[in-house]
Amino acid sequence: MSDQHSFETLAIHAGQEPDPLTGAVVPPIYQVSTYKQDGVGGLRGGYEYSRSGNPTRTALEENLAALEGGTRGLAFASGLAAEDCLLRTLLSPGDHVVIPNDAYGGTFRLFAKVVSRWGVEWSVADTSSPEAVRAAIRPETKAVWVETPSNPLLGITDIEAVATVAHEAGAKLVVDNTFASPYLQQPLALGADVVVHSTTKYMGGHSDVVGGALITADAGLGEELAYHQNAMGAVAGPFDSWLTMRGIKTLAVRMDRHTANAERVVELLVAHPKVTHVYYPGLPEHPLHEVAAKQMRAFGGMVSFRVAGGEEAAVEVCNRTKLFTLGESLGGVESLIEHPGRMTHASVAGSALEVPADLVRASVGIESADDLLADLTQALG
Ligand SMILES: Cc1ncc(COP(=O)(O)O)c(C=O)c1O
Repeated sequence: MSDQHSFETLAIHAGQEPDPLTGAVVPPIYQVSTYKQDGVGGLRGGYEYSRSGNPTRTALEENLAALEGGTRGLAFASGLAAEDCLLRTLLSPGDHVVIPNDAYGGTFRLFAKVVSRWGVEWSVADTSSPEAVRAAIRPETKAVWVETPSNPLLGITDIEAVATVAHEAGAKLVVDNTFASPYLQQPLALGADVVVHSTTKYMGGHSDVVGGALITADAGLGEELAYHQNAMGAVAGPFDSWLTMRGIKTLAVRMDRHTANAERVVELLVAHPKVTHVYYPGLPEHPLHEVAAKQMRAFGGMVSFRVAGGEEAAVEVCNRTKLFTLGESLGGVESLIEHPGRMTHASVAGSALEVPADLVRASVGIESADDLLADLTQALG
């Protein structure tokens, strides 16, 4: 499959050659741990053991690399497993990382509670300002980590500008592209070194599989990551890889509908007397709207908002929705709602990443927009 094809075509065909044995048009689930060798070392297709490589995972990994415009894609058991592999590949004791002041709570916890015990230093910066990133960089800084749009405040980082700042300091730029998906934003083309995904979210798209991915443009770094993926072992299983591929085939059409529905939700929330602030990069008043418009195809399906009446009022809105399901995670076809302070971001309480107590986060699904608006209207009261 040529890289010249457009995104929608690559999503369906990249890495998805018909099965050589049967012609099956969808890569089969190779639910197998080991492979017969034709004499010692005589591997068929390079496969010897499924931690090191599995054809279903390979199909997903080739697809991921094509969609992000990279040379290497690697699939993991979860987004955090991918992050852990990346950090332990890039960093050694004594190294330093700049992390964002708004990020998924689990990413922060990985730095603050796990990687820091292993002698890696980190400091928090407002990555929406390239100058703030520059100021946070130290001689030992090996990586700058950004999430754009960020979870849960939909902050935007100028990927191109921060890539320049990181590279001037000899550091790598890592972009968590989970909220946008490669359909809306391709960080490698903007200068990022590694893209991270929780494929659990928009890539899988149906709330039925947990997974993660790393994609890199540089083949040498790709090799190093692949070495660590095998050495550390948190790989995506064949069935999870297959489910993720199945989701990816409809990514483009889903993202278009997620965005269209989110725009209707934003319109409702902005005009609602009980909503005090709406966070959405598509709003002209978003502080980095112009940057988002420059680096994203559209603004996506995630919307956060603050509710008049404080924490209890925000919790009440989450409890009252009927169509928006109260739950963690995001990016599935069904709409979800949550209270970040008590749920996904409980682990950042008391840190520089603490989120407002009156914040509600919505993952706007692809149901009828009219039904979604009616549900939010009744929940806001
Ligand atoms: C932006 C972002 N990155 C990473 C992760 C971690 O991914 P996983 O839950 O698949 O381990 C999440 C999970 O919510 C996330 O929202």
